[in-house]
Amino acid sequence: MPLSPKDAKEAKAAKKTLRWALAAVLALPASGAEVTFYKDVLLILQQRCQTCHRPGEIGPMALETYKDTRPWAKAIREAVILKRMPPWHADSQYGRFRNDLSLPPREIETLVVWVDGGAREGEPADAPPPRRFTQGWRIPQPDAVFELPEEVRIPASGTLDYQYYSVSTHFTEDRWVEMAEVRPGNRAVVHHAIVMVQDDTGFRFGRYLAGYAPGMSPQTWKPGQARLIPAGSALIFQMHYTANGKAGVDRSRIGLVFAKRPPESRIVAMSASNHWLAIPPGAANHRVEASTTVTEPLSLVGMRPHMHLRGRSFEFRAVYPTGESQVLLRVPRYDFNWQPYYYLEQPILLPPGTRIECTAHYDNSANNPRNPDPNVEVHWGEQSWDEMMLGWFDVAISVARSGSGLLPGRSAATMRR
Ligand code: HEC
Repeated sequence: MPLSPKDAKEAKAAKKTLRWALAAVLALPASGAEVTFYKDVLLILQQRCQTCHRPGEIGPMALETYKDTRPWAKAIREAVILKRMPPWHADSQYGRFRNDLSLPPREIETLVVWVDGGAREGEPADAPPPRRFTQGWRIPQPDAVFELPEEVRIPASGTLDYQYYSVSTHFTEDRWVEMAEVRPGNRAVVHHAIVMVQDDTGFRFGRYLAGYAPGMSPQTWKPGQARLIPAGSALIFQMHYTANGKAGVDRSRIGLVFAKRPPESRIVAMSASNHWLAIPPGAANHRVEASTTVTEPLSLVGMRPHMHLRGRSFEFRAVYPTGESQVLLRVPRYDFNWQPYYYLEQPILLPPGTRIECTAHYDNSANNPRNPDPNVEVHWGEQSWDEMMLGWFDVAISVARSGSGLLPGRSAATMRR
């Protein structure tokens, strides 16, 4: 994809910074010739790249062996210098996140020095033991797996509305879920999948459990935190398929890892959203706001911005009852293909009366290479060529609380223009 003038400028600045950093590294006595694949590089790949770069995962190539990796040496050098890889889009000035994928400068240097020194293989005896992954999952072996009741056929063309499938859990007792991963059966056609818990609270689509969107990692909460699936609940799969020119089939599924001991807190999803957005044609930096006020003490554990193809930047702030405000997360260059949950390293306490404010900017100009049509006014809608403005956030509440007053779109989630 061609870089926009702004991206090109940023890329140039990043390269300049790196030239400076490299000059410093190369001045050290340890020269690139001593950095080898087995001794220095493989461990970094195992820890930072292989969750995605192994067979069956989203990375386009495996980075497991020297043979896999060697042809990509130059591309790896560039991707880590420009911080395109590993993908991580939060502004490091605000908040610390426990799923931060970005490489420490030291590791960037190691990779670059390795490539510049000829990408040498070294001695296999120096290799760390291979990292073990669960086959077919990014979470540990799930305790329960539920899949769509049937294979879904996706036509080659046309617009597909959201489709809903209900799958009974047959759980005879309450289950606490510590990790959840939604796996699309066919990534080429699954635009997103959300799995909700339908219990007896009477909400048509139930409560958010876990989701898949491009670049979204599995949901994993800290030990002691879990989402509840009450006995007898069904799981509702909300499937959004996009026709891509070739007919396909999909059978998505969700894997659940249960808490091994009773959790201390329950994770509940909330959101601030703005359904009245109207982005003028051609607008390059259109601002949209949303907010929601919490009505009882909550502990914020993670956030996730959601916009579509015109999304440009997103920010979460907390405005405390004292009037003080704090930036919780800033994603300066939102990328539709990467929509992770940002899990806070330390929870943030939100006293009652705290307002969670979200600010989104959209680029509806012709300069946005992803823009499906710069000539239209854009409104809220389900399809990628429509827009959304949703600030999801996860809070931890005491397990004793039912959480029914905290549901997104319900009492606590006030929406405004
Ligand atoms: C969260 C998943 C994920 C992680 C972690 C990840 N990658 Fe990737 N990588 C991808 C995907 C998906 C693509 C293809 C789409 C793209 O380029 O954005 C890709 C593309 C690439 C490419 C080719 C395109 C380019 O941008 O040059 C390189 C090289 C690469 N990755 C290297 C790495 C290295 C090295 C690491 C670890 C230091 C890493 N990646 C970590 C998912 C990941």
